[in-house]
Amino acid sequence: MDTLQGYEAVRFDEATGEMILLDQTLLPNEVVFLRLRDQDKVWEAIHMLRVRGAPAIGIAAGYGAYLAVLYSKAASYAELLPEFVKAKEYLASSRPTAVNLFWALERMERCLRRCDGMDIAAIRTTMLAEANAIKAEDIAMCRAIGENGLGLLEKGWGLLTHCNAGQLAASKYGTALAPIYVGQEQGYGFKVFADETRPLLQGARLTTFELFNGGVDVTLICDNMASMVMQQGKVQAVLVGCDRVAANGDAANKIGTSGVAVLAKHYGIPFYVLGPTSTIDLKCATGADIPVEERKASEVTDLWYTKPMAPKGVKVFNPAFDVTPADLITAIVTEKGVARAPYTESLAALF
Ligand code: MRU
Repeated sequence: MDTLQGYEAVRFDEATGEMILLDQTLLPNEVVFLRLRDQDKVWEAIHMLRVRGAPAIGIAAGYGAYLAVLYSKAASYAELLPEFVKAKEYLASSRPTAVNLFWALERMERCLRRCDGMDIAAIRTTMLAEANAIKAEDIAMCRAIGENGLGLLEKGWGLLTHCNAGQLAASKYGTALAPIYVGQEQGYGFKVFADETRPLLQGARLTTFELFNGGVDVTLICDNMASMVMQQGKVQAVLVGCDRVAANGDAANKIGTSGVAVLAKHYGIPFYVLGPTSTIDLKCATGADIPVEERKASEVTDLWYTKPMAPKGVKVFNPAFDVTPADLITAIVTEKGVARAPYTESLAALF
């Protein structure tokens, strides 16, 4: 089954010159596609998590960078370059943790710099091709992650996942959910437990939306139920995505992931981190070098409630990500293969 066909997180409409985003803040209740041309709209969509998930943010950044070129009034490469650099820096300020944002923007800038000497029309064509390539490569990478990850799993297993690292967070297949989709094609019959993932509920709103609609056996649990389902023997492996992996294998992912890793270690359950090599940032030596986004308090106190659920003015800590130490990670699954400890060597060998 071609799961969620038509629900692509990010695509580009060449006929109208617009990036089309599925507004993930409205899921699962409304399926609304946004049509974007302006840089401030792209920035807002990334910042507000209308598009979210490390690979999808990278794809949106690629098209966002292309939009800066498409709608520029510059008459030459020399005029365009400084304008582009400004737009790139602006988009780069939308979210700090997922390295794919910066990776995609750098890649688009390198592409533009190779266009020196071309006229504006040729530059636009080249930049669109690069943005399209980022997306096409993501689909192929996610498929390969799915195949590599499936090799670690057995038919009928119970799998637990946190946040949403599926098709909505990338292109087709996703990362952590890719082995589930590839396994579904081959009749693996996985039983998936999706953590709801407080505070933004990516697990409840997005992971169950895409797996349930895709015909996968999925059960929603509150974050604090993970220990119980593990204790009951219902989980044979944990699969999570990543927003940035440091050179030593420490992996940043949605807040709560490190707690799941601690539980998995306690119960002797393998804990797999899945992501493309574009999410590995060898410039970060350890997880301590990964910038962790903090988001506003109202996401915890008010967002999903009809009345505030905390006293007005109470202190709130709302980090969007945490870092799972490498020693809690059984393996890191990429499109190029499965890396195991010692990660400093195995991750470097992937490049
Ligand atoms: O804040 P979000 O929703 O962008 O966080 C997303 C995650 O943490 C995902 O698990 C990660 O980006 C991997 S997506 C394939």
